[in-house]
Amino acid sequence: MERRRTIRLTVNGTRYEREVEVRKTLADFLRYDLGLKGTHVGCEHGVCGACTVMLGDASVRSCILYAVQADGQEVLTVEGLSSPEGPLHPLQQAFHEHHGLQCGFCTPGFLMSALELLAEKQNPGEEEIREALSGNLCRCTGYEGIVEAVRAADRVWNRS
Ligand code: FES
Ligand code: FES
Repeated sequence: MERRRTIRLTVNGTRYEREVEVRKTLADFLRYDLGLKGTHVGCEHGVCGACTVMLGDASVRSCILYAVQADGQEVLTVEGLSSPEGPLHPLQQAFHEHHGLQCGFCTPGFLMSALELLAEKQNPGEEEIREALSGNLCRCTGYEGIVEAVRAADRVWNRS
């Protein structure tokens, strides 16, 4: 028998109350219940990082979390980084300018992992950046442009 539960959470600043099947992943909840398809799903095993979102202050893999585990919490997805009308987030702008993406499938996950790093630390070294992004896989770029983009975003992002 399908078990369902009501959850209340905030996603990109908007409060939601939804009834969900208890085994629905957070990734599927974001994509199909809320229509936020910027969060990509690749491996569905917690390996590729494409589904990375922020849960509170920490990045998480939304394919291996259940939506019910986000009950009462705040989620930030790639759609929450900037508004459609507004300027891009410094990380998005830097990925654009420094060839940080090609096909773009991995990009939302990289952006959220980089966001976690830069929110915690200014002026991280290259090794720290690579370590922070080590859970995100990219099949296209060779990572050099991604690392350069994170360094560039760090230089211009005014966190205050
Ligand atoms: S889809 Fe979640 S880690 Fe790959
Ligand atoms: S840009 Fe294609 S997988 Fe990273």
